[in-house]
Amino acid sequence: MQDFAKINMCSMSGNFVFSLSILLLLLSTSCSGSILKTKAKIKSAVFLSPKFELGPGSVVNRFYYDIDFPRGHVAIKSFDAEVVDEAGNPIPLHETYLHHWVVVRYHQSKANSHLKNTFRNSGMCQGTIYAQYFGLGSETRRTATDIPDPFGIEIGNPAEIPEEFEEKWLVNIHAIDNRGAEDKSGCTECKCDLYNVTIDESGRSIRPDYKGGLLCCYDNTQCKLKEGFEGPKRSLYLRYKVKWIDWDDYIVPVKIYVLDVTDTLKLSDDSKGTNSDHNCKVEYQVESCSTDHKEENGCVHVKRTNLPFQTGGYVIYGVAHQHSGGIGSTLYGQDGRVICSSIPIYGNGNEAGNEVGHIVGMSTCYPQPGSVKIIDGETLTLESIYNNTKEHTGVMGLFYLLVAEQLPYTSTLDILSSSFL
Ligand SMILES: *[C@@H]1O[C@H](CO)[C@@H](O)[C@H](O)[C@H]1NC(C)=O
Ligand SMILES: *[C@@H]1O[C@H](CO)[C@@H](O)[C@H](O)[C@H]1NC(C)=O
Repeated sequence: MQDFAKINMCSMSGNFVFSLSILLLLLSTSCSGSILKTKAKIKSAVFLSPKFELGPGSVVNRFYYDIDFPRGHVAIKSFDAEVVDEAGNPIPLHETYLHHWVVVRYHQSKANSHLKNTFRNSGMCQGTIYAQYFGLGSETRRTATDIPDPFGIEIGNPAEIPEEFEEKWLVNIHAIDNRGAEDKSGCTECKCDLYNVTIDESGRSIRPDYKGGLLCCYDNTQCKLKEGFEGPKRSLYLRYKVKWIDWDDYIVPVKIYVLDVTDTLKLSDDSKGTNSDHNCKVEYQVESCSTDHKEENGCVHVKRTNLPFQTGGYVIYGVAHQHSGGIGSTLYGQDGRVICSSIPIYGNGNEAGNEVGHIVGMSTCYPQPGSVKIIDGETLTLESIYNNTKEHTGVMGLFYLLVAEQLPYTSTLDILSSSFL
């Protein structure tokens, strides 16, 4: 609880503390807005990831364990992030393209620091994105992440943490330095020829029809620069701002689902479907419409998958993740109703948060709690649409969904919504 008090920003009132030695940045936040102060006791802190260094064309894709994070039994209310330099300046995507960041919760043994148990989210993918708690990419600056009251993501519940274990957090950061790139969009789409890569990170050769994607832009790879381009290496951080409230019985926990349009459900033969296996490739390729037969409705590439939900609930928040070229993603119910539709926002300038050609934000869904329900056993359809006037490699079609299995008592909801808005 002491750590908590230190990062309760309301006591900092506008002070700005930056210490490289502890790599922790604390900022005052909306405490001056008196509305939230007393009722919600929303706490907030701004942290820095460990430092990573990038020179022109270079790539970092690393896991940083035991990052700074709110401690104790709390409900997370929002998580926002961006890339900054050592002076705290936001770095635009045409200099450092943020491919993705993913925050993962794990329990580490106090006796044996190698023993780490990753906490799964409620999504269906195995092996890949099953562990994401929070995560976005280039769109991180302009995508709303607030979770409405009285809902929250519960963490640090002592009853869930095994004896002799501690709850910790890690972040995976994948960033590509685009300064001086001969083909910036090719570098951000991880085109293998620009990286001159024929074997993947683990030394396996990449099949010839794989033109681009995560296999070709792993840690320490180098994208092709303009002839003679030189630029300094620089030190960067992921700066992330977390808001939370102390756990209280009135808070309704939400479950996190990360859905993937590349998920192909494999039913094992012997079990006749009872032991189904989700195979999520995370990324896919969008062929250009000139090679892929131009459709009547223009150059639009649609990918869909069906995802059975064993347990349903009430949708509280939804957002898609797409890469450049994306024109939207929608989650449909079994009867065809729209559960949530999320549309990219493209930049039209140069400054951080408005970079032309990049997805700088995604629209989000905040249905009135109770109004959008997924039924137990319902099969949803996830659809991801790209503009394929040009081909795109290594694109994604993820959908992040927060679902509450119960609703609060109406009276509580009324009181809370009237006092929070
Ligand atoms: C590409 O890689 C090959 C071998 O891996 C190397 O011989 C060649 O010089 C590289 N080309 C460039 C332009 O870096
Ligand atoms: C796809 O992109 C091209 C330009 O790259 C644009 O002319 C076209 O209108 C876009 N189509 C859609 C459906 O967004």
